[in-house]
Amino acid sequence: MTSHLFSPFEIRGVALRNRVVVSPMWQYLGVDGAPTVAHTVHLGRLAEGGPGLTIVEGTTVDRRGRGTVGDLGLWQDDLVPGHAGLVDIIRAGGSVPGIQLIHAGRKGRRNPPWAPEDQPVPDPADWPVLAPSAIPVPVPGAAAPEAMSLRDIEETAHSWAQAARRARDAGYDVIDVQAAHGYLLHTFLSPLTNRRTDAYGGSSHNRARLLIEVVDAIRTEWPDDKALFVRLSCVDVRWGLDRTVELVRELRCHAVDVIDCTSGGLTGRPTPDAPAVGYGYQVPYAEQVRVQTGSPTMAVGMIVHARQAEEIVACGRADLVALGRELLHNPNWPLDAARKLGVADPYAAAPARTAHWLRKRDESFPGLAPSTMGDLDVATVG
Ligand SMILES: Cc1cc2nc3c(=O)[nH]c(=O)nc-3n(C[C@H](O)[C@H](O)[C@H](O)COP(=O)(O)O)c2cc1C
Repeated sequence: MTSHLFSPFEIRGVALRNRVVVSPMWQYLGVDGAPTVAHTVHLGRLAEGGPGLTIVEGTTVDRRGRGTVGDLGLWQDDLVPGHAGLVDIIRAGGSVPGIQLIHAGRKGRRNPPWAPEDQPVPDPADWPVLAPSAIPVPVPGAAAPEAMSLRDIEETAHSWAQAARRARDAGYDVIDVQAAHGYLLHTFLSPLTNRRTDAYGGSSHNRARLLIEVVDAIRTEWPDDKALFVRLSCVDVRWGLDRTVELVRELRCHAVDVIDCTSGGLTGRPTPDAPAVGYGYQVPYAEQVRVQTGSPTMAVGMIVHARQAEEIVACGRADLVALGRELLHNPNWPLDAARKLGVADPYAAAPARTAHWLRKRDESFPGLAPSTMGDLDVATVG
């Protein structure tokens, strides 16, 4: 069968073998910003499972912009070699290496999400939490952010450019700019968290200024043949899809290639008029952004089944599908999906040492055509 999900995707000089993307996933295991062997295991395993693109977790552009102590960073040059190692392991798995860049803003200086509520947060002494306005996240114990000075803003835009240069030197092919989920760039966009009265606040044009400066700054260091994605919360409190569409039209004029469509995160409360978290709940945003702006999009959020993902791409609802938790559940999800969709030689994306044995495994059930083969459970093979 011809699969849309398993068709190649090209953007600028970047060629993906299929449309399945590893969504960025913080591991909270960095040591002073540097990756560890745990990152190598995590990303190497995911890349070997067959995705077209593997996006490394949110990696901080400025040390002050860390979310937690264990965040990865690219805030100084000596962090590049560790990332070059991650690039190598992702490429060895046949996937294209991408990286998400982030500044956590007012969501900085926190504990990992599973930490007990009474666990003290890291010492604020050398870790100021910065935001457009001094408005904390509305949860008990959240750090009180400082409103950024114009100098802080200028330094921040510069730090994104420098991190992009380091990402380039490490060998990444895709940057995903985290401008969603309540982190720094998102809080500049939103009227809820941006009460500035200077050129970075007020009108929606002014509130988008930092994001536009950041993507422009990145492009000064990020080569023309490499791709630039921006992750946006397409709907959130006091922010509708119409505003996202306007912003995406502007971003398209600033060499942004793909919009990574997510939602929420600004207050931690559900958005009032958004669908509840559930099966493919954010796909309509990717579809609407794609239809209304002509921009390629990436859908994410509870994309679970091979046929669901196939339908998203086949029906033009998104160009790429990103998976997070489903890949933690089954790092071989892309190989498994290719088999379930009846792709010829579904294990072609796997390393030879794995593909050989998976093909033999399938041959052990000669009565079952790959396209009809579900999970090899007792009912199927008994
Ligand atoms: C362990 C974990 C870590 C995550 N870390 C990040 C991150 O670094 N940056 C980000 O933008 N989203 C992060 N996310 C959100 C995912 O990228 C994704 O958008 C979300 O999990 C929805 O997709 P899913 O339903 O397939 O998991 C994380 C999610 C998980 C489960």
